[in-house]
Amino acid sequence: MEHRSFAPGKVILLGEHAVVYGHPALAGPLQWGVRARAKGARRPKLEVPPSLRGASRTALLEAFDRAAAAAGSPKVSVSLESQLPVSMGLGSSAAVSVAIARVLLDAAGRPATVAAVTQLAAEMEREFHGTPSGVDHTCVARGELIAFRRREERSPHVRALASPRALELVVAFAGERPPTRRTVEALRLRQGRWGARYRRLFEQIGAVATEGIAAVEAGDVEALGDAMNVNHGLLAALGLTSPAIDGLVHVLRGYGALGAKLTGAGGDGGAVIGLFAEPAAAVRRLRRLGVACFASQLPAARKT
Ligand code: MEV
Repeated sequence: MEHRSFAPGKVILLGEHAVVYGHPALAGPLQWGVRARAKGARRPKLEVPPSLRGASRTALLEAFDRAAAAAGSPKVSVSLESQLPVSMGLGSSAAVSVAIARVLLDAAGRPATVAAVTQLAAEMEREFHGTPSGVDHTCVARGELIAFRRREERSPHVRALASPRALELVVAFAGERPPTRRTVEALRLRQGRWGARYRRLFEQIGAVATEGIAAVEAGDVEALGDAMNVNHGLLAALGLTSPAIDGLVHVLRGYGALGAKLTGAGGDGGAVIGLFAEPAAAVRRLRRLGVACFASQLPAARKT
């Protein structure tokens, strides 16, 4: 018997990094993601894509072994097919973790509930990122727009958001970036040294995220866009941008983005998002510039 699953990538619209320190974040699923397929085998096994080498390969194999053991070691061989670029801030490791968690639970005959998938995916994410906030795999496992807040010694507070307006995003790539774990650790060192200043910036990001979440629920995309712009400025203050990221943010704003910012861990490169009323023209113009990009929509909540 074969088991199949799909898990989307994610974008953080507001609150990355500050979310690690307990502040709220806004995240949503992409329309692209990772598919996993599990077929009967003599023991749990992952077919690692040949393009993945070195430390990433080792981390993926270790994460898989950890999840397979936690799922009761179902006898399956799992293969993956990804539409997401790796290490670009779009949640490819979270999507891999969730897609694998779903097929492992199915194969083990356990219910693949959101809670069970989230828990198993968290095991894998810890292997990839050390101490992730959990926003990535929670958003990916739920596949919906969420407000997320990490809590000490308790499970995070997660709320699904009903946006009355569709959110049209353009995702563009500003080149390679260091692994998330390294960017988060370097920021933690700066925060340890200049605690009060960094705490103020995290609090400001949290406040902007709270305002942006309220804007989403009110259907006020202009206010959400402004929150994204301010959030980008605060991420720049935290030392998480680069000339390539900032350049692309300004290009997106020049093309009419209501708001534009880096998404995910940032650092030297990675993905940048723009919120648009009409994304098609921006995608065409970016491609003409030779910038890799795509459009993705977070659909409006259906009226009941
Ligand atoms: C990475 O997608 C998001 C970060 O906030 C790290 C985390 O939440 O664990 C940078």
